[in-house]
Amino acid sequence: MSNSVLRLGINIDHVATVRNARGGAYPDPIRAAKLAEEAGADGITAHLREDRRHITDEDIDRLVETLSVPLNFEMAATQEMQTIALRHKPHAVCLVPEKREERTTEGGLEVAREENKLAHFIAPLRDAGCRVSIFIAADQKQIEAAHRIGAQVIELHTGAYCDFHAEGDFAARDKELESLREMAAFAHSLGLEVHAGHGLSYETVQPVAAFPEVMELNIGHFLIGEAIFRGLAPAVQEMRRLMDEARGGAVA
Ligand code: PXP
Repeated sequence: MSNSVLRLGINIDHVATVRNARGGAYPDPIRAAKLAEEAGADGITAHLREDRRHITDEDIDRLVETLSVPLNFEMAATQEMQTIALRHKPHAVCLVPEKREERTTEGGLEVAREENKLAHFIAPLRDAGCRVSIFIAADQKQIEAAHRIGAQVIELHTGAYCDFHAEGDFAARDKELESLREMAAFAHSLGLEVHAGHGLSYETVQPVAAFPEVMELNIGHFLIGEAIFRGLAPAVQEMRRLMDEARGGAVA
């Protein structure tokens, strides 16, 4: 398993954040998505937030029309978002918390408390052919609940691990990394496909990329920031290189 290919999903939300700062059409997140694709991204991730603070409905329409790689559509578990997802039928739908009451103390989606509701919510998405992923903390109770409701994928929340690293609290960082490692193995043992993401950078990506059970990393903010300094394609290519190195030179 350690030689399996690790996919890189590029999150383009923050290209839209910069665009929206001026209210015009530039920079275009779809152009960024195409560039990321050419630079080796295996997928594009976009989060259509309820308040439309970055990605818009029109961005999603255009991504669906133009992408050659799979779209991972991040959304809250609301009726409005379900309708949009069912209209587009993206390759993957990743359910993420947007409101405080939807998240666990660790920051992932609170699945265990909302099991029945979420099971009903994801059923039509699965029936439409979307791979349903749940953005979740490294918490066994939440992973078991995600499995019971019929999700095919979990995405482990790496935000706390990255925050501890940035704060220089390396003991807490390593403890969080150990939980992520254990929970990646646990989720895999249940038959779930394991992804990871949030806050990853060149400094933090390799220990997570090295988990053999992780099949995909979704990375956005750091790479869009790094693109200011070295350009988007080189920024993506360097992330790809680090991931492959951590994986021991993965081959297709
Ligand atoms: N994965 C999920 C589920 C997310 O919600 C986000 C942020 O939108 C990311 C990955 C990417 O996080 P970042 O932009 O910090 O790399």
